[in-house]
Amino acid sequence: MKSIMEAQALSYSYPGTNSQALRNLNMKIPEGTKTAICGHNGSGKSTFFLQAIGIHRPTEGHLAWKGSPLQYDRNTLKQLRQQVGLVFQDPEQQIILNTPLEDISYGMRNAGFPEQEINRRTEQMLASMGIEHLAEKPIHHLSLGQKKRVALAGVLVLEPELLLLDEPTAYLDRRSEQQLIEELDRIHQQGITVVMATHDMNLAYAWADWVLVMDKGQCVREGTPYEVFSHEEELELLGLEQPILLDIWNAMPESVRQGKNAPRDVRSFKQFMEENTASLFSHSAGAKVE
Ligand SMILES: Nc1ncnc2c1ncn2[C@@H]1O[C@H](COP(=O)(O)OP(=O)(O)O)[C@@H](O)[C@H]1O
Ligand SMILES: [Mg+2]
Repeated sequence: MKSIMEAQALSYSYPGTNSQALRNLNMKIPEGTKTAICGHNGSGKSTFFLQAIGIHRPTEGHLAWKGSPLQYDRNTLKQLRQQVGLVFQDPEQQIILNTPLEDISYGMRNAGFPEQEINRRTEQMLASMGIEHLAEKPIHHLSLGQKKRVALAGVLVLEPELLLLDEPTAYLDRRSEQQLIEELDRIHQQGITVVMATHDMNLAYAWADWVLVMDKGQCVREGTPYEVFSHEEELELLGLEQPILLDIWNAMPESVRQGKNAPRDVRSFKQFMEENTASLFSHSAGAKVE
């Protein structure tokens, strides 16, 4: 798979520390995917994202954007930050102006867009995120879920090719999480590569089509959700839990599971149960006779 962003032997230490937050990191984001970067706290996910938009510069190695090493001059960085959008974990870190309307248009104004285009895109973005009614509300009156939508809108309005989201569902209630996931799927269908850092393995398993696992500043595994989560013991050693659907799946009799893909969401799990009630029942009846 062609990578859109790639860390090549990248190491980084924060100023004033002598430990490496990223150590000889080799990691590829495949173009066009929904990629989940998993790893427990401190494994380097956020640091990688800051590298990806050129906020920090590698101590060693480099980052490649569409095959070319990143340059750190002002113009290149400005261009990069229109192509690569980062949504911070904490929307307070991202939203700088007083209302969604002002904040969402800020990035475009900064990038020198014509006023007419700014208005057109802002209106469209407010509508597609379903936050028109909040446009002129003071930011501090919004809920966390609403603030997260505003922060996402402010990034999306620049029409990035690569969207990076740092723990986007942290502290969201289930409904807001569901809404966000639907939004991300819509964005992905428009051809944008979407990457989320998360330590929610259930979400990673259900949502992603590519999974990267980070530990101690390195990428220790990559693959499809099935491939990555089949290494149960390894993940446990890394402090990552097994997705619950996969746990239940593995508890089913092997004869029933054979040759079938594990369901990745509750709907397909239900479907599997409906289709296999007969063989599940006959299996347990058989087991009793033995
Ligand atoms: N601003 C910072 N200054 C110094 N060390 C930091 C800073 N931010 C993160 N670190 C360290 O870098 C490592 C990676 O952290 P981080 O990228 O935040 O991990 P994650 O996002 O996976 O939780 C950790 O050891 C963390 O303590
Ligand atoms: Mg983090």
